[in-house]
Amino acid sequence: MMRNTVVAMVLACALTTGAAAQSTSTTLTEKQIHGRQLFAQSCGICHLQASLNANTYGPPLNKASANANNEVMRIFIMEGSARMPAFKHYLKTADVDAIIDYVRTVPVPAATTAAR
Ligand code: HEC
Repeated sequence: MMRNTVVAMVLACALTTGAAAQSTSTTLTEKQIHGRQLFAQSCGICHLQASLNANTYGPPLNKASANANNEVMRIFIMEGSARMPAFKHYLKTADVDAIIDYVRTVPVPAATTAAR
């Protein structure tokens, strides 16, 4: 019994350090870092999960979003949709470029790939 508890604790530690290592291992360019910041500010409220169990209003975005087509994504961001606001009056072309550049660094989650 005691032995199982120790094993579980060691496992938990290993998992936590693994996750931490993963999030710091991606190297972003300055443009992508700028894009990530803009994304968190302007898009995060609908496209980033606030907590693990909360659903977002918009779909999660990653390198496969908008048919993996940067021009489609640009039009989506500029014009919006019935459910998403247009950003053409808020963001400069360079800012939209940076956001797209950043979103393309986000890997497709395994669950999403399986569902498609
Ligand atoms: C008010 C909430 C909201 C905000 C803010 C928002 N979006 Fe969206 N977004 C949505 C919703 C909802 C959809 C789903 C599209 C639909 O059903 O019309 C969407 C869809 C998208 C898509 C298409 C995804 C796909 O693969 O079809 C892209 C790309 C996108 N958003 C990018 C952005 C970016 C970049 C920003 C920030 C500049 C942003 N969105 C801000 C709600 C939002």
